[in-house]
Parts: sequence; C-alpha cells; structure tokens
Amino acid sequence: IAEAPLDLVIFGGAGDLSVRKLLPALYMAHMHDKLPALTRIHALGRQDWDRAAFAAFLQEKVPGFIEPKAFNDGAWASFIERVNYVCVDATQAKDFETLAAAMQTGSDRVYYLATAPTLFVGICAHLAGAGLIDAQARVVLEKPLGHDLASAQKINDDVGQYFQEQQIFRIDHYLGKETVQNLMVLRFGNTIFEPLWRSPHIKSIQITVAESVGVGSRAGFYDGTGAMRDMIQNHLLQLLCIVAMEPPVSLDPDAVRDEKLKVLRSLRPMTIADVAKDTVRGQYSSGASKDGSAMGYLQEDNVPNDSRTETFVALKAHINNWRWANVPIFLRTGKRMAERRSEIVIEFADLPFTIFKDSPRQSVNRLMIRLQPEEHVQLHMMAKEPGSGMKLRPVHLNLDLESAFTERRAEAYERLLIDVIKGRLTHFMRRDELEAAWTWVDPIIDGWKQLNEKPKSYTAGTWGPAASSALLAREASSWVEES
Ligand code: BG6
Repeated sequence: IAEAPLDLVIFGGAGDLSVRKLLPALYMAHMHDKLPALTRIHALGRQDWDRAAFAAFLQEKVPGFIEPKAFNDGAWASFIERVNYVCVDATQAKDFETLAAAMQTGSDRVYYLATAPTLFVGICAHLAGAGLIDAQARVVLEKPLGHDLASAQKINDDVGQYFQEQQIFRIDHYLGKETVQNLMVLRFGNTIFEPLWRSPHIKSIQITVAESVGVGSRAGFYDGTGAMRDMIQNHLLQLLCIVAMEPPVSLDPDAVRDEKLKVLRSLRPMTIADVAKDTVRGQYSSGASKDGSAMGYLQEDNVPNDSRTETFVALKAHINNWRWANVPIFLRTGKRMAERRSEIVIEFADLPFTIFKDSPRQSVNRLMIRLQPEEHVQLHMMAKEPGSGMKLRPVHLNLDLESAFTERRAEAYERLLIDVIKGRLTHFMRRDELEAAWTWVDPIIDGWKQLNEKPKSYTAGTWGPAASSALLAREASSWVEES
C-alpha cells in the first residue's frame, strides 16, 4: 500500500521551541530520510509572512541550531521545499479554513501545539470546526502542562473533548533521550542488576539534572514557574519512574505507562513537616559560571528584584512499596550550577562487615548512569592497591556508550517526532501519569507557600545551597559530584 501523505502542523511555528528544537529535528529526520515521502510541514504563526519571507526567517534562525557537520545546503534547500507557512490567529475560526486549504487530500495529520496552553482549547475547537480532526489525527502537547493539578486536569479535559487519549502525545523530551531509553535496556535487557535493584541492596538513589546556564531570555516564563514545575514535576519524576518501576509485561504503551503510574502513585505524600525538613529551595546569586556570565538570578533581564522563584530544588522522596521501602531517593536540579550534568546514581548497600581493617568500611559500590553531556555507565567497586598489604582503592568499570556505538545518535525531539508520526505512544505521558505527578508536587509547592521562606542563596557556578548537602548528610550520604 502506498504511504499516506503527512501534514505536520506546528502551532507556534515561528516560536522559540520550533526554531531551536522542532525544525532542526525535522531537518535531521528529512536529511536521513526518516519522514514519509509526502510530508508537508506547516508552520503557523501570526506574522503576516508569505512563504518566501518565512523561508528567509528560517534560513537566518534555524541552521545555528543544527550541528555544523550535519548541515548541508542541498539537504537544507530540499527541506525548505517541504515547509509551508500559514498565517493563523489561533482564536479566529476563519483562519482554520486557510489551514484546511493548505492540507493534502487524504493525509495523516499531526498537530503540534507549541503554544501557551491557554490556546489549546480554542485551537482544538477550531480544528474540529474546520473538519480537520479525524480518528487518525494526532495532537502533541508541549509542556508546561498546567501549573498545578487543577489546571492540568482542565487542559486534559479541554483537549479530551476533541481527541481520544490514544491520539494525545504529551511530550517530555527527556523520554526521547538515548540514554533514558537505554535505562530500560540496562534494567530489563540484562539479568545482573535486577535481583539487586531493590531494598535492602540499594542504599539510596540520586537523580541530578544540573544545568550550567541561567534563566537566559526566558525569565518571563520562568519567574512564574520555578524549578519545581519546570523540571521536577516532569523530567526528574519521569526519570525516577524508569529507575523505580516494576518490569512492564511488554513495551506496549499502556504496559509501560501502567508501571510508571504505579511509581507516581506510590510516592509518599509530603506533609508540611516533610516539606520543611526534606526539601531545599535555592536561588543563584552572582558568581562565576561556566558560560561566562556572573549574574545572579535577580539581576537577570525581566526578573523582579524581589523575586522568590526557586532556580534550584533538592529533595528527599520515598516510594511506599515493597521494592523501595526505606530507600531514600534524592532529586536535585538547578540552573547555573557547577556544570551541566544529568546523572543517576544507584548507591548499593554498605558492607555488612569488613575484613580489610585498613580501608574504610563504607561501600563504594555504585552504578552511575550519566545521561548528559557524556553518555556512559560506570560501575564503581573496590580493588586491591598493588603492593604488599591489603589496601583497597575504588576503581571504575566504564562503558562509554558514545564509543561503543558508531551509529548516529538522534536528538530527543527527532526521535519523539518520528514516534508521533508512527503513532508510537510508549515514550509519551498518559493523562493519569501527568495528574499523579501533580498530585505529589502540589502539596510541596503549597507547603513552601505556607512556610513563606526566601529561597536559599547559592553562588552561581556551584552545586547549590549548603542545605542540599545537609539533606544527604542526615542520611549518612553525600551527593556524588566527582567527574
Ligand atoms: C526544559 C526546561 O524542559 O528542559 C528548561 O523548560 C531546561 O528550563 C531544559 O533548560 C533542559 O533540557 P536539556 O535537554 O537541555 O537537559
């Protein structure tokens, strides 16, 4: 059977996400022949541009976000051929008639909503009004999906009036990262870790997503959001789900998402006392930073000078189930930290007893999964120092995933866009997952409001406020920060 034509429609097509991530990802997919032959990309925006003006805009903006060695003029020219621009005001029904006229006959339709969520319901209603939603149509929802449970439910209800759950792709780009997908293989494609992957063999889990960049030009959005909503509610909780879930029965979307949901529902709710004791909110103050800027958060453009928005969060979570009883789970994320690093550390239990009296009793058995910027898995263990005597020293087994595979590694957005085109939902969040994540996060944010404390200051270019180290010290642990 001939492949159906594909119309991929990006609302917010001239916006930041589209320029920085979506169009570069589509260019890469185009260049590697991953898009259906009859694909048309419709970028939608409010500027009154014709195709040529939009092509010039893309030419100026997009190549800078494509890896130089992957860019070539021929591929770019044929990519631009596939891109159309439609001037659409998402609140105007008549503009959707123009869109309908630009679509190919009998095409598969994908709608990417890279706009403020307040526009979602209007967009869906107008798409339906113009007869553009059939049973095969798919819609991709970009975060932020709500700022609390109630607003997330509202978005889900709104979109749910027009699309069935299996047509809705809630994107969390962390789920598209190669190393995140590899985590499933590490756990369920090998037998060696799984028997130990539980209490009491695991002493703690640490998940860090540290960024060296500051808030940049996004203060308008970020100051009303903060690190908890921007990162923990989605990216870090999704990582935790994959680390902590039970083996799914298959890779079918619901098989995987059922297991992730169980993790989210097992998170121990935090009381106000827990919030006071087990969470740390931070905000960067001026200092040296890797990208050269020494600015504190309050000095950044468009940040009110009395802002209390957190740019850093560290917290201790617990999962109330058999596998994870009594295993503290530490999550940490922040902007302008010492370096860009996303890492999961599985800390195995201490030795019950040591016969090596000259060496520390503490365990160094750790599995370190580095997601970015490098992609590697390290197993830390003890070995004997050469020489007489029995002195031990920590050593690493190192699996460098970038050199183990020579194949091209696609960016998260490229991989996820191909999944949407193919209708594969496994790496997207289901409604109940999103809502369960908010159910756990809301009381923490409410607790912070009640406690009414300023975020703790940390110098830009460091690993966060001192209270973050103290959080782990209370569990006889410490953040693993060695490179
Ligand atoms: C986004 C956040 O979801 O993820 C940003 O809104 C953050 O604030 C970004 O910088 C981090 O993504 P990555 O892929 O660069 O780790």
